[in-house]
Amino acid sequence: MSIEIPPGLTDLLQGYTVEVLRQRPPDLLEFAVQYFTRLKEKRLQDGAGAASPLRPATRAVNFDGEPMQTEPNGDEEDEDEEDDDSDFEPPVINRYNRRVSVCAEAFNPDEEEDDTEPRVVHPKTDEQRCRLQEACKDILLFKNLDQEQLSQVLDAMFERRVDPQEHVIDQGDDGDNFYVIERGEYDIFVGRDGQSRCVGKYDNHGSFGELALMYNTPRAATIVATTDGALWGLDRVTFRRIILKNNARKRKTFELFVESVPILKSLEPSERMKIVDVIGEKVYKDGERIIAQGDKADCFFIVESGEVKIMMKSKTKTGQENNQEVELTRCKSGQYFGELALVTNKPRAASAYAVGDVKCLVMDVQAFERLLGPCMDIMKRNITHYEEQLVALFGSSMDLRDPGK
Ligand code: CMP
Ligand code: CMP
Repeated sequence: MSIEIPPGLTDLLQGYTVEVLRQRPPDLLEFAVQYFTRLKEKRLQDGAGAASPLRPATRAVNFDGEPMQTEPNGDEEDEDEEDDDSDFEPPVINRYNRRVSVCAEAFNPDEEEDDTEPRVVHPKTDEQRCRLQEACKDILLFKNLDQEQLSQVLDAMFERRVDPQEHVIDQGDDGDNFYVIERGEYDIFVGRDGQSRCVGKYDNHGSFGELALMYNTPRAATIVATTDGALWGLDRVTFRRIILKNNARKRKTFELFVESVPILKSLEPSERMKIVDVIGEKVYKDGERIIAQGDKADCFFIVESGEVKIMMKSKTKTGQENNQEVELTRCKSGQYFGELALVTNKPRAASAYAVGDVKCLVMDVQAFERLLGPCMDIMKRNITHYEEQLVALFGSSMDLRDPGK
């Protein structure tokens, strides 16, 4: 006896399955009710068979259970045929349902113009997804993404293992992927005037490879693994579709503020824009420690709103560290902190705490070194003020340029 599978059934169930795998709801039945209700609402919103600007993209995505570029496959019927033949939307339609029904206020058809691009999805095991989420939790470029954008980015990322001495990126090449580091150490080489110089390194976290994708330029540095490593890659098309769109929004949000930050005044407007492109916004609650004295440093902060208290463990007369913290200063909107350890290559000289709710713009050490060269003199001169302040407070001199002395 042959059983005929009704047209659309496979797509319908696959769509539900994909969303279950993506969202891992605790109650499958409840999730099914919500999923199919939204699917029905979406059909009603679009009108039966009415052309929808969302339609091409929803058709472009399917699910075949292995890493894939989700392009329409040759088996798919053309749009008219599908409208005639099937009442059902293809599987990942639910993403659009969520966008339309839950995030309707954020949906701007002009901005979303290129959302008709095929989605890239690399299915992952639970274990991979956990590792990926952990690796991405502090990535500044992902900080201002909304949930839907972040979820699309995570879906599109793929794992890459590297061996010691492997060149992940070569300066001058075209940009293919952006990389987030899960583990491993990587040297950064920049060649100029026929000479290649190691300008820094990544130590088990951070990300690289954004510049060629953002600005359509050749790779600006060579990245070489010095240990075994694990990376998560994000393809150029997804990076540009999501991160660049988000950067356009970031420019609108932070442009005026960044122009008003005194330390950045000496930069050209185009240089300030590049800062906006790579910063991430972090939010802290009252009393939260932002940096801890003695920690290894990997980023620089500008206070966007609220107040940050800088505290240092005092020293006894014999120079021993006391656990009692003394307040050194407070940083307000437009002021910066966390530069000292990056400039001196030393651990954090003091701790920083949020006073009330605080928002900071954060830049990683590589961007700090690449973009803030013109501000370095002012920052270095300021170290002398810090030292004078410490003499006034603790009565003994402290060489911040080498605290080990
Ligand atoms: P991209 O140019 O795409 O590829 C090389 C990457 O190295 C670059 O993006 C940055 O992410 C990273 N990088 C780190 N430090 C530097 C630096 N000083 N100059 C240029 N690129 C750097
Ligand atoms: P960093 O050492 O990276 O982290 C602690 C930060 O506190 C430091 O950078 C400075 O930005 C800031 N700070 C403010 N006043 C002082 C001071 N008198 N001595 C040292 N750090 C200070």
